[in-house]
Amino acid sequence: MKIALLGYGKMGKAIEQIALSVGHTVVLKSDDGTYTQDDLKKADVAIEFSTPATAVINIKNCVDAQVPVVVGTTAWYDQFEEVSDYVQSNNGGLFTATNFSIGVNLFWKITSEASKLLNAYDEYEPSIDEIHHTQKLDAPSGTAITTAETLLNQFSRKNKWVHHENGIGSISNELELSVRSFREENVPGTHKVKFDSEIDTIEITHTAHSRKGFASGALKAAEFMVQKTGVYNMTNLLNV
Ligand SMILES: NC(=O)c1ccc[n+]([C@@H]2O[C@H](COP(=O)([O-])OP(=O)(O)OC[C@H]3O[C@@H](n4cnc5c(N)ncnc54)[C@H](O)[C@@H]3O)[C@@H](O)[C@H]2O)c1
Repeated sequence: MKIALLGYGKMGKAIEQIALSVGHTVVLKSDDGTYTQDDLKKADVAIEFSTPATAVINIKNCVDAQVPVVVGTTAWYDQFEEVSDYVQSNNGGLFTATNFSIGVNLFWKITSEASKLLNAYDEYEPSIDEIHHTQKLDAPSGTAITTAETLLNQFSRKNKWVHHENGIGSISNELELSVRSFREENVPGTHKVKFDSEIDTIEITHTAHSRKGFASGALKAAEFMVQKTGVYNMTNLLNV
């Protein structure tokens, strides 16, 4: 498979390492968006891990070049509907995931089941914590937002999430779900769902030990997307 890497930072490099080790070729590496349509067209698939401000233009460039694109960048999802319409009306291919690791997708499934169960026990107050490395541009993480949405779907005692940066602040009414973000050196990504009562705490934690899980998941998605059109996500790839 011939791959275009749009974004050659921590994730782009981790993906390249695994891709080369399993016999794929990297035909384009762009770390500033200055590639041409002809450069893109050499690839079977593009993998986009850049910045929240540059993801959408990279996706549209791939659609225009008719190269399916796998997107890991987070914090552009307020534009998802418009982008998805653009992909579909121009016969493009798009795969998105706020987290490509199989473990996190299982963690979401467990969160969903636990939320359904705990909703019936008023004494438990849910909250979400996320910890990432200090270079991360967005907060809360895309994974934390998906975790919050997963919980809210099953938990009728809460109806919206609110962000508390560095854990500072608290909910202003009982319908709010607190999502706390923390930044620490060298943390690839830790997410915790807590159900807290006066008597005890039930916690579900996912701790990424490295970026390998994200990178190999993104590569699997890229293999899945070769010659595909349409809009896909992890539910199309995993049986979870
Ligand atoms: N979905 C997942 O599983 C997952 C996992 C890890 C990180 N992420 C997300 O992926 C994104 C990248 O993460 P990272 O850790 O590699 O960040 P990073 O800062 O190490 O790398 C991003 C790179 O994008 C480059 N860039 C800037 N403008 C660009 C453009 N127009 N076109 C192409 N590249 C451009 C930057 O120079 C930088 O090197 C972030 O949004 C992060 O939250 C997602």
